[in-house]
Order: sequence, then C-alpha cells, then structure tokens
Amino acid sequence: EKAGYKHFMAKEIAEQPIVLADAIKHYCRGRQINVPDELDFSTLDRLTLVACGTANYACLTAKYWFESLAGLPCEVDIASEFRYREPPMPENSYAIFVSQSGETADTLAALRYAKEKVAKIVSIVNVPTSSIARESDVALPILAGVEVGVASTKAFTCQLSVLLLLALKAGHDRGRIDDKTLADHLKTFATLPGLMNQTLSREASIAVMAAAVAEAQDVLFLGRGAMFPLALEGALKLKEISYIHAEGYASGELKHGPIALIDKNVPVVVLAPRDALFDKTVSNMQEVMARHGKVILITDPKGAEEAGLGTWKTLTLPEIPAIFAPILYALPAQLLAYHAAVAKGTDVDQPRNLAKSVTVE
Ligand code: F6R
Repeated sequence: EKAGYKHFMAKEIAEQPIVLADAIKHYCRGRQINVPDELDFSTLDRLTLVACGTANYACLTAKYWFESLAGLPCEVDIASEFRYREPPMPENSYAIFVSQSGETADTLAALRYAKEKVAKIVSIVNVPTSSIARESDVALPILAGVEVGVASTKAFTCQLSVLLLLALKAGHDRGRIDDKTLADHLKTFATLPGLMNQTLSREASIAVMAAAVAEAQDVLFLGRGAMFPLALEGALKLKEISYIHAEGYASGELKHGPIALIDKNVPVVVLAPRDALFDKTVSNMQEVMARHGKVILITDPKGAEEAGLGTWKTLTLPEIPAIFAPILYALPAQLLAYHAAVAKGTDVDQPRNLAKSVTVE
C-alpha cells in the first residue's frame, strides 16, 4: 500500500500534486468556484475558524486570506480553548471547523457550542461521513484521499486550498474581487500542481539540509504574513516526527525574545518568498546570521539572488503569486521534517505518544 515508498508520509507528500489537481477539478468550474449556493459571504460580519494542531495552522493562514482578499474580520482559535471560553459569536457570521478526521473531540465540541449561535456551521473535512461533517450545515470535502501517516501532510495543503478558494469566493461575493481577477486567480490555481512537482524534484537537496538539521537540538522557523502560520506548521512537523525541539515565530517577534537562543548550533529556517514583506524578513535573517545562526533560506529565484549570500543553505522554489505561497512552501517544510526523522531513524508513520485521530479531549 505504500506504493514503493518507504513510509506512508513520503507517499502522501508525493501525492500532493495529484490530490490537489482533483480538488481543483471539483471546486473550480471555469471561472466559478463550485460550492453550495447557500454559502454567501456578501453581508457577513465575521468568520470564526476553529480547529486543532495542523488544521488550526491552516485556519491561521486563512485569516490572512479572508482579511486581505475579502475584508472579512476573522477570528481563529484552537478548539480546546474555544469550547470552554464562552466566546460571544455574532449571529450574522459563519463558523468554520477544519478537521482531517472529522472526529476530533475538541473540534466537535466547539462545533456544538457554535450551533444556534451563528447563521451557518461549515466544515472542511477529509472524511465526508464523519461526525463533524454530519453535524454541519455545509460540509466541504478536501478530497485528499486516505491519510495514514500520523503527521498530516496532504490534508494540510488540501485544507489550505479549500480555504483559499473560499476566501476568493468571499472576496468576489463582497465586491472586492472582480470577475476577471477571480478568473486569473483560478488560472494560477491550476498551475499549482505543476509547481508542486517542480518543488518535489528538489527533494535530494532538502534531504542534505535535513541531515544537518537532524544533528541540532533546537530549530527555529521564521515567517511573516501568511508564512508565519507555516513557520508554526514547519516546527510542529519537525518536532512530532524527529523529536527535535522546534519553534515557529513571526519574524518580527525575533528581537522580542527568541533571538537570545541563537548561536552556531541553531538552524533557523526562514520561509520568505520575495513578497511585499521580504526586505523586513531579510533584515531579521541578517540579525540571525550576525549571531552565527545557521540560516536555511527557502525562497524564490529573485529572493535567492537578493538575499542568498551568506546563508548556510538556500533552497530556491519556483516563483508564485504571494497568496499561493503558503501552499507551495508547505512541501519543503514537510520534506525537511521527513528527512530529518529518517536521518534520526525515528518511526515516521507512528511517532511515539501520538494518535492519528484524537477522539478524547
Ligand atoms: C499534526 C497533526 C495533528 C492534527 C490534529 C487535528 O501533524 O496531524 O496536529 O492536525 O490532531 O486533527 P484533525 O484534523 O483530524 O481534526
């Protein structure tokens, strides 16, 4: 069943271009986004997004999209906090629950809390027959296929893709994105599986970086804007399968504490496509280099040209419009964690102490 791969996780990372192409086929009809008509974001006051773990990082990324593309205020919380916090929820809002398994106890409890309070309960799930899907008004499948590896990979990029499509639809519904711009975004979406394949072809160089990461005790991941949640996800992936301590930070937070950790033994993974915030991230990266931190810069050709000098390693990914970058940059983060774990010889598909589906709180 591993189809020639050493681990399910490797297979599931490699499958991402294919499953994403399926999801695009399902959700993009010509110039339109194919979701049930009852989803209408045009006059909503707010969105609330709730999930656990990796799915929560997908929600955090989506906050950047819903706010910038649709001007829609967006609250994101982890389910275990949300469910007990007694958060007020405006009636004229949707609550969106994201879960691969659809059975996560805290996320299901959060969904039940939101029922009757908001206009619509929407879920984004991989298992359409799951409890979370069944208890929602609208359940959107991510179409990732069965995910066996405990560390979520293809489900994450499919969750991101469905959330980005919803944010584009919200932007269109709210008059911020015109027909032509929407059509252009959908065209770019269709190129993403090909760009993922190009990114996966860099696996050998990522494995070389990972072999060195495997020797570290602590690793930092930095990103700005929508790359910040991906820094959190990169750190989570590394710690859960390689047992290396890792933290994700917003680049701008570096000097508010974590820079104290930097020395020559600390690899710092900088996720920085050449976007509007690139120069700011680069200046944070230079502060790390001045303290002899080992920088792994993940960027695009222009970013590598401008800032690749003096890093420990630079990985160059294909150029991609900024809003799509978190989906593409997830792949090297996953591969880095995977190869670090393989180098350490840990049980990649069944990491210690973890379960695939967390059905108790
Ligand atoms: C991390 C991971 C977990 C899950 C979390 C939520 O790789 O897989 O953090 O994302 O347990 O699970 P679901 O999405 O099934 O609700």
